Amino acid sequence: MPASTQVHRNTVRDLLSWAHAYLRDRGLPESLADAQVLLARALGIERWRLPWSGEIAAEAAGEAQFRDWVVRRGRFEPLHYIQGFREFWSHDFQVTPEVLIPRPETEILVEEALRCARLLGREGNLNILDVGTGSANIAVILAGELPRAKIVAIDCSPGALRVAAVNCRDHGVAQRVFLLCSDLLLALRPEVRFPLIVANLPYIDRAGLDILPLDVRNYEPRVALDGGQGGTRILDSFITVVPALLEEGGFLLLEIGAGQSEWLRTRTEPILEFREVRFVRDLSGVERVYVARREGPAGG
Ligand SMILES: C[S@@+](CC[C@H](N)C(=O)[O-])C[C@H]1O[C@@H](n2cnc3c(N)ncnc32)[C@H](O)[C@@H]1O
Repeated sequence: MPASTQVHRNTVRDLLSWAHAYLRDRGLPESLADAQVLLARALGIERWRLPWSGEIAAEAAGEAQFRDWVVRRGRFEPLHYIQGFREFWSHDFQVTPEVLIPRPETEILVEEALRCARLLGREGNLNILDVGTGSANIAVILAGELPRAKIVAIDCSPGALRVAAVNCRDHGVAQRVFLLCSDLLLALRPEVRFPLIVANLPYIDRAGLDILPLDVRNYEPRVALDGGQGGTRILDSFITVVPALLEEGGFLLLEIGAGQSEWLRTRTEPILEFREVRFVRDLSGVERVYVARREGPAGG
């Protein structure tokens, strides 16, 4: 009789404790949570089931995938790039290193934009401009929530626009989101006007880029982060072209960084007459979203 060959298979518990220690030793702050997320995904089970699956032997392909992901995470590659998606407004968006990983505070911008769209009326039949669209997270959600709206979504990065196109298609809004490769608004026809303009452009001070957390600094696209000197260079160029594009009575919404609100208020005052300006704070108390309404009758 041929000698029986017994193949040793690691259990779910073995893999989890290996990955937890591996990531912890490399200084990952959320080592256990990261290990759980990756293991559940590699094995195709819900994360909450892991504690009940400890003694189950992991299937070889899942284990190989998991080990590869853990090594990548050990180099501080963001979890969302490894998984290939990020949840935003309860929807999954494809993300690759070509796009910024959408942040929860950007949901404030979306919420405020929807509020402005309601104030504008027209049953949501609006043309909206989204500048610095990245993965198109903002444009896709606005298009989903406002089924009669049309959105022009601009980015200067062709790689980001490829990801944006996938997300528009996957969420069924590609017919109403028009992606445009442009440095700010250069590629727009001069006569177009929008009643609602949103922008989440880079606003991090160039001098602070090198002290960002490793996973941001080494993996997220610099073009999505670098706001130039003081973090306001790109916003500054953008603001100067807004008057030519914003309808009377229309809304401008910008996401900004900590400590930029006073600069923005002072900068916009001489450029545009706004009848109302306010800042919305994020959960950490930072004035994160600027909302302003241009003077003049809505629909003008
Ligand atoms: C902070 S990310 C925002 C991405 C996405 N809208 C979000 O909220 O997660 C900024 C985006 O602006 C784009 N960008 C940077 N400079 C630009 C410029 N001069 N013109 C157009 N887009 C620009 C970047 O490529 C990047 O996708």
